[in-house]
Amino acid sequence: MKVLIINGSPRKEGNSARLIKELTGVFTEENVDFEEYQVGAKDIRGCMACGYCYTHDGCVVKDDINELAKKLDESDGMVVVSPVYYGSANGSVISLLNRLFYSSHSDKRMKVGAAFAIARRAGTTATFDELNKYFTINQMPVASGRYWNNGFGREKAQIEGDAEGLQNARITARNMVFLMKSIALGKEAYGLPKTEETTYTHFIKG
Ligand SMILES: Cc1cc2nc3c(=O)[nH]c(=O)nc-3n(C[C@H](O)[C@H](O)[C@H](O)COP(=O)(O)O)c2cc1C
Repeated sequence: MKVLIINGSPRKEGNSARLIKELTGVFTEENVDFEEYQVGAKDIRGCMACGYCYTHDGCVVKDDINELAKKLDESDGMVVVSPVYYGSANGSVISLLNRLFYSSHSDKRMKVGAAFAIARRAGTTATFDELNKYFTINQMPVASGRYWNNGFGREKAQIEGDAEGLQNARITARNMVFLMKSIALGKEAYGLPKTEETTYTHFIKG
């Protein structure tokens, strides 16, 4: 059992990294493997809408995105932790998620997702909703906690004072492990649910 963790912060040992420690503590206790990828200062460009991925599995830009798609394929769950920038997720993490989910065509059904938004003061619920959209358009169940997963702090390590946020992270991680284990059993017993080819309808007239 494995989880891919995306740290959307450019800062080393920032508040996102501190919250991730709570998650990985639970994963270690529960014997769940994990791999962390930090956006950091990497040059992750946005989607160019070039259409390459319509005819290929993967993105035309050869940075880390295609590798991450492989890692997601091998994982049972995915966590995204992002700092809030202007009421939204950090732009680099959005570029990463747009390209990762748009260009990779593998089956992501029943991989469990969990998102966390980290801020000084505001924008966490909008960011939480924004991040969960990547999971919920991909038939990925979302592990939830006891709040709309957030954590508060401005300077590095200030999140240490947010005991509730850190506790909620541990609770969400335990719920995520439970869901991943339950889904693994369910897959064995029943297989994945029957699926259908997408029927595309558009709101374009004329
Ligand atoms: C460009 C920029 C925009 C930010 N916008 C917000 C914001 O909209 N709301 C907020 O509460 N904090 C905002 N912050 C503060 C960060 O969310 C906060 O410092 C957070 O702890 C950073 O997480 P990290 O330590 O993991 O990088 C902003 C910080 C930066 C650098």
